[in-house]
Amino acid sequence: MNFDKSKAAWEAGSAYVAGGVNSGYRTGLRPHPLVFQRAYEAHLVDLDGNDYIDYFAGMGPMILGHSPKEVIDAASAQLQQSILVAGQTPLEYEAARLITELVPAAELVRFNSSGAEAVQAALRVARAFTGKKKVIKFEGHYHGWFDNVLWSVTPDPAAAGDPLAPTPLPGTLGQEDEVNLIVLPWNNAEVIERELAKGDVAAVIMEPIMFNTGGVLPLPGYLEKVRELTTKYGAVYIIDEVITGFRVSSGGAQKVLGLTPDITIFGKALANGFAVAALAGKKEIMALIGDAKVMHGGTYNSQSVSMAATVATLKLLQSEKPHQAIAKTGTALMNGLREIFTKHNLVFEIVGYPSVFNVRFDLQGPTDYRSAMTANRAKYLDFAFELLQRGVRILPRGTWFVSAAHTDEDIAKTLIAVNTALSALK
Ligand SMILES: Cc1ncc(COP(=O)(O)O)c(C=O)c1O
Repeated sequence: MNFDKSKAAWEAGSAYVAGGVNSGYRTGLRPHPLVFQRAYEAHLVDLDGNDYIDYFAGMGPMILGHSPKEVIDAASAQLQQSILVAGQTPLEYEAARLITELVPAAELVRFNSSGAEAVQAALRVARAFTGKKKVIKFEGHYHGWFDNVLWSVTPDPAAAGDPLAPTPLPGTLGQEDEVNLIVLPWNNAEVIERELAKGDVAAVIMEPIMFNTGGVLPLPGYLEKVRELTTKYGAVYIIDEVITGFRVSSGGAQKVLGLTPDITIFGKALANGFAVAALAGKKEIMALIGDAKVMHGGTYNSQSVSMAATVATLKLLQSEKPHQAIAKTGTALMNGLREIFTKHNLVFEIVGYPSVFNVRFDLQGPTDYRSAMTANRAKYLDFAFELLQRGVRILPRGTWFVSAAHTDEDIAKTLIAVNTALSALK
């Protein structure tokens, strides 16, 4: 497979765009950042004409695939009506109503353009609601790239020290000092109670399933215990469903796991690739934003075309048809991978759901970031690159996103490529 045109375009583009990419997370990919000419269904086509079966799904949003007719039609029609009105349209009320129908804990909604922004609003309103300042987050969990939360996302365990009381470690040069932040290991309720009992914690924020740094499910009873403890000590329980929301199920991970958070963060699959995120939660908390006692803003919040796409996406998800399709193809993919890995005598683990799962090599059963990081990530990187060269694009970190546009044929072709990639690796 030849990547020459992509390489030339990326190198020429680097004269105008810093690093030739518009997100730091797009650097460092092998063989180099690719440049794409188009995307359709569950496929990407790069400048060299290479056609990939795509499991990046735009980093998660494209739950319906790259060319869902209903969403494209809704957005195209809205373009003729309005783009941005700095006021309200019926579409944002309809989009919010659909969210509250699909996710019972989402009583009132506010839209933003990115998950990272919605996280900021949630933390602010949690501090205002409780009158407290501190926030608990967990090693390995990602809540956007802003200074106050980009802590201990991929920390070096040796530098972080005590696993039960880790030193918070910054994620970037130039980051503001951490203020009022407590970093803890995930899947351990005792350490949370230790901190909550001090009485100064405004919020506990977590991914309900750890998908950003290896796939780790919550241990039985853990999320329920955190719910109980946050209620007992008067802290706001924020679940960051930017990856899992509308993806793990039409009601997100919370529907599958039987969880009732105070505030949920949504993004990604909410609008199938349009820049829409939201925070949604209990009326009494969200009312502080409603009254503008807690400021929440954004020029592009509830932009008309994005809202039309959101409504179309949510209506489709509400029909359950996309998730029914994914249940079939995603399960076939997970089962097929297990079969092939076993045939190749690999030690491996596949954790998650048909719509989003994580694959790791040479490790089973980690329960938190530090244990998950002992998987054989170098071997996985080689595997991902071998697959890319066979027309299958997977995230090097282990996450696979399956969309409703993946066909049985895509899955069959993927499994053939996996088999030959593993043979080539030996
Ligand atoms: C769990 C989680 N929260 C928040 C974010 C930030 O969302 P955005 O990239 O839309 O700002 C992400 C992005 O990957 C995420 O995975």
